[in-house]
Amino acid sequence: MSIDDKEQQAGVYDGAMMVRLLGYTRPYRASVVGAVALVILSSLLQLVGPLATAVALDLFIRPGEVEAPVSRWLAEHWLAVRAIDPAAGLALVAGVYLLTLVLTSLVLYFQGLVMQMMGQRIMADLREEIFAHLQRLSIAYFDRHPIGRLVTRVTNDVDALNELFTAGLVSIFGDVVLLGGIVLALFWLDWRLALATFAILPLLLGLSIWFKVRARQTYRRVRLKLARINSFLQEHLTGMSVVQLFGRERATASDFGHINDEHRVANLQAIFYYAVYYPMVELITALGIGLILFYGGGKVMGGALSLGVLVAFLQYAQRFYQPLADLSEKYNILQSAIASSERVFGLLDTEPTIADVEDPWRPESIRGAVELDDVWFSYEEGEPVLRGVSFRLEPGETVAIVGHTGAGKSTLANLLLRFYDVDSGVVRIDGRDVRHWHLGDLRRAIGLVLQDVFLFSGTIADNIRLGEEGLGDAAVEEAAREVHAHEFIARLEGGYGAAVQERGSGLSVGQKQLIAFARALAFDPRILILDEATSSIDTETEQLIQRALGRLLAGRTNLVIAHRLSTIQHADRILVMHKGELREQGTHRELLAADGIYARLHQLQYRDTRSLG
Ligand SMILES: Nc1ncnc2c1ncn2[C@@H]1O[C@H](COP(=O)(O)OP(=O)(O)OP(=O)(O)O)[C@@H](O)[C@H]1O
Ligand SMILES: [Mg+2]
Repeated sequence: MSIDDKEQQAGVYDGAMMVRLLGYTRPYRASVVGAVALVILSSLLQLVGPLATAVALDLFIRPGEVEAPVSRWLAEHWLAVRAIDPAAGLALVAGVYLLTLVLTSLVLYFQGLVMQMMGQRIMADLREEIFAHLQRLSIAYFDRHPIGRLVTRVTNDVDALNELFTAGLVSIFGDVVLLGGIVLALFWLDWRLALATFAILPLLLGLSIWFKVRARQTYRRVRLKLARINSFLQEHLTGMSVVQLFGRERATASDFGHINDEHRVANLQAIFYYAVYYPMVELITALGIGLILFYGGGKVMGGALSLGVLVAFLQYAQRFYQPLADLSEKYNILQSAIASSERVFGLLDTEPTIADVEDPWRPESIRGAVELDDVWFSYEEGEPVLRGVSFRLEPGETVAIVGHTGAGKSTLANLLLRFYDVDSGVVRIDGRDVRHWHLGDLRRAIGLVLQDVFLFSGTIADNIRLGEEGLGDAAVEEAAREVHAHEFIARLEGGYGAAVQERGSGLSVGQKQLIAFARALAFDPRILILDEATSSIDTETEQLIQRALGRLLAGRTNLVIAHRLSTIQHADRILVMHKGELREQGTHRELLAADGIYARLHQLQYRDTRSLG
C-alpha cells in the first residue's frame, strides 16, 4: 500500500532523475546521435509537402499577381522555373512531393528501429543490474518487501522506463522540432494568417491541461486497482489448496468480484476522459481550420494572398494541432516513467546491510569450531528473539537444539550464516567473528538443510548440483547414493534428469529432504546446520532419513535443530532453548534427570516416539 501511496504523490519532475536515466544511454551514444539526426531529418521532410503544394498552385496551376514567398524565392534562385511548361512543372512538383513522402516513411522506419533497439538493450541492461543487485541484498530486505512488488520492479517498471526512451523523449523532441519548423514556415508564408492559426491555441492548451490532470489521476487509479488484482491473484493461486480445503471458493470469488469491479469502474473513468478529449480536439482543430479558411479565403478573394499560401496553411494547420494534442499524453507517459524510475532507483540505491568488510578473512582451511558469545538479536527493534545466548561447539561435535516453537532455534542458524547480524555479542567460527569473514567463504564453510526444502525448477541433478560446475554427474550420483536418495531417484522417470516442478511439488516431503541431504553432502561443508522438518513422516521414510543422516553428519561439526527423538540420538549434547534463552544443556540422560524444560518437552513431544532405552 505504502508504495502505491507514494506513487500518488510522486510526479514532480525531477531533473537529477532524468540525468541519471539518460546515463543509461551512454553505451549507445551512436544510436542516440543517429535517432536525433533521423528525427530532425523527418521533421524537415514533413515541412516540404505544403511548400511544394504552394509552388504547384502559384507557378503552374494558377499563375497570378500574388505568389507565395516560397514560389518567389524559387523563381529568383532558379530563373528557368518560369519557363517550364506548366504540365511538366506540375509533374515535377508532384514527383518531389511523392519523393519526400517516400523518404519520410523510410526515415521514420529507421528512426523507430534505432530507438526500439536501443530501448530494448537499455531494458535488458537495467533488468540485469536490478537482478544482480537483488541478489546482493540482505535477507532482512526480503522480509520487508513482498516478492510481488520486487517482481513488478523488474518487469513493469522497467517497461515503463522503456516508454520513456522510445515513445517519450525522442518523439517529444521530434514534435518540438516539427512544431518549431512549422511556426517558422507559417511566419515566412504570411505572418497575419499565422497569428490567426495560433488564435485557437489557448483553447487547445486549456483542454490539454484539463485532460492531463484528469487522465493522470484516473490512470493512477487504474494501476492501483490492477496491482490489487495482481496481488490478490498471486496470494490466492499460491494458497489454492487452503481455499479449496476450507471451501472458501464462493467467498473468495466474491472478494475477487469486488476488486475486479473497482478496476472496471476505474477503467471506464479513464476511457471517459479519452472519449471526451479527442473529439474536443477535433472540434477545436476544425475551428482553427475554419478560421484560416474564412480569414485567408477572404484575402485570396481580395487578391492580397495567393491560393498556394492558403492551401499550404490548411495543410500545416493539421500537422500543427495534432502533436500539440498528443503532448499531454506523452507528458503522462513521461510522468509514469519518472514514477517508475523513482522506484527502480530506490531499489538500486538500497545498500545491502550485510556485506564484506574491507580485507575480509579468507581461511586456507576450516576446523569447524562454532561459538556464540552473549548474543542478543531481534528481527523487530525492541523485541529480542535471542537474549544473551552463549555456547560452543568443538570441531567434529554434534549438538542438538530443542525447544518450543518460536524459541529462536532457526534464528541461531540465520546468525551463523550471517543472513542477519547480531545486535550485541559475537558469533565466531574458528575463533573469528563471522562479520570479519569473507561472506562467500563463510557460507561455503557452512551447509544448511532447511525445515522447508526449496527446490528450483530444473532436473533432480540440477537441484543437487545447484550450478556448481565442479560437481560432475558421478559426484552427484555418489552424494545421492550416500544419503540413500539414489533408490527413489533411479525409480523416477528420467532418473537424475527427471524434471522437478516449481518448488518440487511432484515430490514427497521425505524425498525432498533426501535431495537436500544429497545437496549438502555434495558441497561437503565443514559445519552443517540441519533444521529438521516439524511435520511427521511415515516410519519407513523416517528410517531412510535416519540412515542418511548418519552419513551426512559424519566428520563434521553439526548443529541439529531437532524435532524428533530419533534425530536427537545422533547428538553428543543437547541444548534447550526457551523464549530466546539457552536454559539447559547436557546429555539426554542428564537433562531427563534434571527434570526441567527438556524433561517436560520430552514428555509432551516425544512420548509417542520409541524410547531411547
Ligand atoms: N524474518 C522474521 N522477521 C520477524 N520475526 C521473525 C522472523 N523470523 C522469525 N521471527 C520471530 O522470531 C522468533 C523465533 O523464531 P525462530 O524461527 O527462530 O523459531 P524456532 O525456534 O525455529 O521455531 P520452530 O520450531 O517453529 O521452527 C519467533 O517469535 C518468530 O516470530
Ligand atoms: Mg525453526
